[in-house]
Amino acid sequence: MAPVYLDHNATTPPHEDALDAMKAAWSQGWANPSSLHRAGRDARRFVEDAREAIAALAAQNPRDVLFTSGGTEANNLALERPFQGKTGGLLLTSRLEHPSLLAFAEELARRGVRVRWLPPGGKGHLVPEEVEEALRERVAGEPTLLATHAVHHETGAIQPIQALLALVERAGAELHLDAVQAAGRVDPGLWRGAHSTALASHKLRGPKGIGALVTRPGVQVKPLLRGGSQERGLRPGTLDPVAAAGFGAAARRALAGGPARYEALRVLRDTLEHRAIEVAAEAGVRVVRTGGEPRAPHVAHLLVEGWRGDELVAALDLEGVCVSSGSACAAGTAEPSPAIAALVGAERARSALRLSLGEVSTAQDVVAFVDAFRRVVTRR
Ligand SMILES: Cc1ncc(COP(=O)(O)O)c(C=O)c1O
Repeated sequence: MAPVYLDHNATTPPHEDALDAMKAAWSQGWANPSSLHRAGRDARRFVEDAREAIAALAAQNPRDVLFTSGGTEANNLALERPFQGKTGGLLLTSRLEHPSLLAFAEELARRGVRVRWLPPGGKGHLVPEEVEEALRERVAGEPTLLATHAVHHETGAIQPIQALLALVERAGAELHLDAVQAAGRVDPGLWRGAHSTALASHKLRGPKGIGALVTRPGVQVKPLLRGGSQERGLRPGTLDPVAAAGFGAAARRALAGGPARYEALRVLRDTLEHRAIEVAAEAGVRVVRTGGEPRAPHVAHLLVEGWRGDELVAALDLEGVCVSSGSACAAGTAEPSPAIAALVGAERARSALRLSLGEVSTAQDVVAFVDAFRRVVTRR
């Protein structure tokens, strides 16, 4: 029997539309999209169609969509951009960020960029007043970037992006937004408009291994890789028209009703949380929710007292339920998630359980999870 899959923030299955587009690209667009001959032009068509769809999703121009290998590379490129070739500069970010921002921020600190770690509020949201305060440190003329996420990959917290963008604009600084968990899942008004935006295809039902950095007109990206002139020399390497076609189809679908489909999961998510807390209490185990509103409708983040998250993941896996204890990138490490540790302390963060629903999730999945969770917590 197929397992019950409740780990859609790690990745979510490709949609039929994406698979169909990829099949078409396999047969008609397999050539090198940079080649000038007809086969190359055919492949190029798939890439450019996809670029248009991704631009529409982010409400920017197709020429400002740069294909990358995924969200990680897009975040890396975005953090490199303002600081490459400059001395100094100011980066505002937080310990809540995905490792692809966090690790690059630490690297920039080693390179002499002043990094201000913004303290999160108790529910996992950035506090506009803290950002405003930190922006006062800006020295006129130096690159200043706020880099953060729109929807948190573990807690589902929705950040006050439009308020932060207004503060950044007023200070003459820039905003990079990691919208990997937001695009296609929450109202685009919550995440559009940043100077640069990172997207990943596999979180919106496209294939893995492709993403994009989308910029506002006039924002100059600096390459991290050296090589040919693909992607205007900003991201050298042969583009995969098949992956691009799948990403494009997924973006089109996300634009057509993605957030409404996720909103419909809210009732299931609330039931799941409520029942998980209830069955654990019956077994004498206290379960508390991390974070608070506003948050994405499909994510539940729970702290299960007396348990380690990785133990729960293994026990639930044996019961046929796939969940996670943190971000997939941190899976297999003994350390608790830095983001959750920043919120509730390292010790409590070890008991984290993340459940993320997706478009294919059903009420039966929730029932199966609750039954499995009950069996696991009562066994001790
Ligand atoms: C918020 C966030 N940013 C970036 C990434 C990295 O994306 P990718 O796996 O495509 O490199 C992820 C993936 O989990 C994510 O959740």
